[in-house]
Amino acid sequence: MSNRLDKSPYFYCMLGNPKASFGTISADLHRIRRSALNPFFSQQAVSKFSSHVQAIVDRFMHRIETCAERGESIPLSYAYRCVTVDIITEYIFGHQFKLLDRADWGKEFYSAWRSLWELSPTIRQFPWMMDAFMAMPRWFTALTNPKALEVVDLFSNVDEQTKTLLTSNPKEIESKQHPVVIWELSKTDILSQSEKTFSRLAVEANGLLAAGFETTGSILTHTTYLILAHPDAHRKLLVELMEAIPNPGQIPSFQNLEKLPYLGAVVKEGLRLAVGAWSRLPRVNRSEDMQYRNWVIPAGTEIGMSALFISKNPLLFPDPESFKPERWLSVNPSDDRLEQYILAFGKGTRSCVGINLAYAEMYTILATLFRKFPQLQLHNTTARDVEHVHDYFAGMTRAGSHGLQVIVGK
Ligand code: HEM
Repeated sequence: MSNRLDKSPYFYCMLGNPKASFGTISADLHRIRRSALNPFFSQQAVSKFSSHVQAIVDRFMHRIETCAERGESIPLSYAYRCVTVDIITEYIFGHQFKLLDRADWGKEFYSAWRSLWELSPTIRQFPWMMDAFMAMPRWFTALTNPKALEVVDLFSNVDEQTKTLLTSNPKEIESKQHPVVIWELSKTDILSQSEKTFSRLAVEANGLLAAGFETTGSILTHTTYLILAHPDAHRKLLVELMEAIPNPGQIPSFQNLEKLPYLGAVVKEGLRLAVGAWSRLPRVNRSEDMQYRNWVIPAGTEIGMSALFISKNPLLFPDPESFKPERWLSVNPSDDRLEQYILAFGKGTRSCVGINLAYAEMYTILATLFRKFPQLQLHNTTARDVEHVHDYFAGMTRAGSHGLQVIVGK
């Protein structure tokens, strides 16, 4: 089968960003855009950025400490998005949105994104809607569609951040301790001038932000809920973390955390059950027919499959709805039989460019949080609050759900 599969224009117009690597339709154009992004998301690049990840996670821990002292609960669904937004904005813009400092734990910011995802099935049917919203006077959008207004403001904010970055003093950006992705893209020789315009880079920034924060935040939320709702798993995780991290003030590198078997099993089981992208992620081969067993799929046919079908397949994962980290421990460590069925990041040329960063975030955040706060407990939260019931590309919770809330017990 040809490797040159385009994305489906019908499906991917939902986020209105075909200029971003994520939404690029043509496989040929995607290859160029992706090759410019790859160097910043390799294992080596993420390893160099990991001290910044840990510093942001430490700020998060500090805020939890304050909540613990005051006996306040923590809305972890939102809090995780604050951390993942601050991490990705630090990397792409060279400064954080500082959602972690916001009194509302970034609820207002998240509400704007949620609006975009809620609108996405409608935009898919009427792709001109996005441009129309952007062109309308602000007051008119506010009157006719407040959700769309939140989205318009969000996009304008990212435009503003990109503009500020690209007009910054080069010395200031180049003196940073890590590469600033959007700045580097504006200088790279891999991309032609037309790929380095302000409007293209602003859309790329928007795509990286959207792809980078929601999925990671959602998987962390789901995984944390599952750990706390399963006392046996929680206890085993704590035993492992206490032994491996004698001093909670000194969290090992994420590469060392990845070697912890139970933590690894919890992360994999979390990825399996939270699934990541729910949608079918349709592709199309424009140039040739494809053969699947006895069937010929004519060129131009859109095909796709949701990762749900693999993640919840009882032949691969017996009792698939249950949280059982042990299923990942029973296999021989050198045998990646089960691991090949982790589809949360997609597969192939369009798979997640941020996979290494996502793993670094998940290991660092979960290990730091559970090691520092072993007495973490669920607070006013049931499975219903974190259950994914909508397919807005990623699986999402009920509108109005308070999400995952926790409290640091005595
Ligand atoms: C646990 C966290 C994450 C999950 C489950 C996840 C999942 C995915 C999936 C399934 C895709 C393929 C989408 C498709 O086929 O249309 C994808 C693509 C992508 N992801 Fe992630 N992602 C995660 C974290 C991140 C992070 C941290 C970044 C940061 C930059 C990121 C950036 C991207 C980008 C830019 C693409 C488009 C890649 C391309 O088409 O070349 N993701 N992600």
